[in-house]
Order: sequence, then structure tokens, then C-alpha cells
Amino acid sequence: MDAKTPAESRTTLTDLVLPSETNPLNNLFGGELLARMDRAASIAARRHSRRIVVTASVNHVAFNKAVPLGSVVTVEAAVSRAFKSSMEIFIDVWVEDRESGQRSKANEAIYTFVAVDETGAPIQVPPLQPETDLEKDRFAAALRRKQLSLVLAGKLKPNEATELKALFK
Ligand SMILES: CC(C)(COP(=O)(O)OP(=O)(O)OC[C@H]1O[C@@H](n2cnc3c(N)ncnc32)[C@H](O)[C@@H]1OP(=O)(O)O)[C@@H](O)C(=O)NCCC(=O)NCCS
Repeated sequence: MDAKTPAESRTTLTDLVLPSETNPLNNLFGGELLARMDRAASIAARRHSRRIVVTASVNHVAFNKAVPLGSVVTVEAAVSRAFKSSMEIFIDVWVEDRESGQRSKANEAIYTFVAVDETGAPIQVPPLQPETDLEKDRFAAALRRKQLSLVLAGKLKPNEATELKALFK
């Protein structure tokens, strides 16, 4: 299979924060942001694999900044590494200033998607070829994050997590 670049899967969703999507402090409800990120990540995984994809794990979410009612929110997702059937998707969330139009980073998240066939069985995806320095950094750290996610899910023994062990040597 030919390698694909993160640019080929990059997916951008821009939408407003409406009153029905906020918490009692009038900021975007966390679950609403998770859903928007899941949608963007799912499209990115599908663009990379051209297969049916399912969310296997939410590896990391950081709600660093509250997003106020009325904000214009952009969710940007791209595949950061592809393994055999699984893909790590990195998601950046930006909020746009109404007057200047400048974007500031509000949140980020990392999801894992798995490509499956019509019966739900995992299926091979193309490799990823990172291009920019940021894409290369994210690619390099992805195996460590995959191992951590598998250890936390009870699917990998800690003593088999070679990349994690290397961190502590
Ligand atoms: C995700 C799913 C297909 C994995 O199936 P599985 O039987 O565990 O298959 P495998 O063990 O062969 O794993 C398949 C891949 O997923 C990866 N994976 C599985 N669980 C993972 C986790 N918690 N974190 C990271 N990667 C994970 C495996 O490492 C493997 O990756 P690789 O092929 O790239 O090496 C299966 O668990 C599933 O269908 N889950 C439900 C998905 C769903 O409905 N999501 C929406 C939630 S509402």
C-alpha cells in the first residue's frame, strides 16, 4: 500500500457554540466538544484508510481553555500515525476572535480509530509519511502513546511496553 501524508486526511470542522451546547457557566459543554472531535477524527481516519472506521480509544483530552457561548470553534483532525489496522488521530481545537479573526488554540485530543471490514474485523491501512516537523514529532511519539493506551486497556502487559520502558531508562 502506498503511504499517505497527514495533509491527505486533514479534516476541518467549523461551527458556532449555541446555547443548547453550553454548561451552567455558558461555556461549551465538554461532551459536545468530544462529539465534534470524534466526528472530525472519524472523517480523517476514513480519508486515510478509505474504509469503515470505529473509535477504539480516546487516548488523551486536554480541556485547557473554556470556550464561551457564541464562539466560532474550529476542530482540525489529521492522522498522526498509522499502524496495522489502527490510526492515531491528533485533533487541535481553535477559537476565533470575533474582531481580529485571529485563532487561538483552546484544546487538543488524541483518538485511536481502527479500520474494519463489513463484518467488523480489523483490516490493514496504508502507512503514514509525515512531512512537517510537527507531524514528524507527533509520528515519533505515537508508538509510545499506543503502548500506554493498550496497557491501560489491559491489552498489553506493562513489561511488554518497550517504548514506555525506554522512557524510564
Ligand atoms: C476497536 C476494535 C475493532 C478492536 O478490535 P480487537 O478485537 O481489539 O482487535 P485487535 O486486538 O486486533 O486490535 C486492532 C487494532 O486496534 C488496536 N487497539 C485495540 N484497542 C486499543 C486501545 N484501547 N488503544 C489503542 N489501540 C487499540 C490494536 O493495537 C490493533 O492495532 P494494529 O492492528 O494497528 O496493531 C473493537 O474493539 C471494536 O469494534 N470496538 C467497538 C468500536 C466502537 O463501536 N466504537 C464506537 C464506540 S460507541
